[in-house]
Amino acid sequence: MPAISASAPGKIILFGEHAVVYGQPAIAIPVTQVAARAVVMARPTAPGGEILIDAPDVQVLSLLQDLPTQHPLTCILRILQAHLGLAAFPAFHLRVTSTIPIAGGMGSGAAVAVAILRAVSAFLNRPLDDETVNQLAFESEKSFHGTPSGVDNTVITFAQPIYFRRGQPFEKLATAAPHTFVIADSGQPGSTADMVGAVRQRWQTDPRRMESHFEHIGQIVQQARQAMESPQAPRLGSLMDENHFHLQQIGVSTPFLDVLVQAALQAGALGAKLSGAGGGGNIIALVEASNAEQVAARLSTAGAARTIITTLKPHSR
Ligand code: PMV
Repeated sequence: MPAISASAPGKIILFGEHAVVYGQPAIAIPVTQVAARAVVMARPTAPGGEILIDAPDVQVLSLLQDLPTQHPLTCILRILQAHLGLAAFPAFHLRVTSTIPIAGGMGSGAAVAVAILRAVSAFLNRPLDDETVNQLAFESEKSFHGTPSGVDNTVITFAQPIYFRRGQPFEKLATAAPHTFVIADSGQPGSTADMVGAVRQRWQTDPRRMESHFEHIGQIVQQARQAMESPQAPRLGSLMDENHFHLQQIGVSTPFLDVLVQAALQAGALGAKLSGAGGGGNIIALVEASNAEQVAARLSTAGAARTIITTLKPHSR
């Protein structure tokens, strides 16, 4: 029986991080230059139900039954098994690899879940539609992340930009023109929980000032949405600059993230901002496609640990 494989892209927040926690909208986009991949092969000679998992990026080479029950890979497979109503899986070999940075705000966990759900369900001749993949990936995110927003699994399952607001259904965002971005990893780990907590403390101390920044960010997101929906998006870069200014003001940038943002702009980026929780993590810069390599090179010289060039293709809703 041939191997069955499936993959899923990474994601990144383009606009609206932090303010989204306070009810403002945000935009996240797929990053298709990195991906998680799952390959499933039958093990005809193995005892029934014996599943061998080989995930070299997270140093797992183990039978499923020997992994802890709370292990993310166990959770994903158990959620799929329950959904399909199977008493047991047939024996198979599952190999999972990923080029998405782990714990970098790029959705590696959700992408691994989506790739596994697609590959294993196809292997079992029970392929799942995207809605179901999205719902099961969200369940698996909940089982090992507490209270995820559902953004990662949605952007990654549909490989489409998403406009979202807490407590409201996600909207797929139509984009009229391609956009090229350079993502640069500061190499400094940022903790989302710590940064969200620090913003909350500042908000409790000075709610008026913080809410004014959140509202400005919300307006920037609305304008960015309109810009992305129109064939020309001349303001998209300056909207990223404005969003970065407000992220600085709410205290989530760092001197090094600011250095990277400035380096991108000096190399000719059309706009740049930190992305995600801040305190470390990534910056993202909008560039002319022809200038992407130069901006990436400048970011490496400025000290970025890694750069990714990605093009967001036009999408219909
Ligand atoms: O860690 P990331 O890249 O998924 O970004 C976190 C985004 C925040 O707005 C800071 C937190 C949140 O839950 O929305």
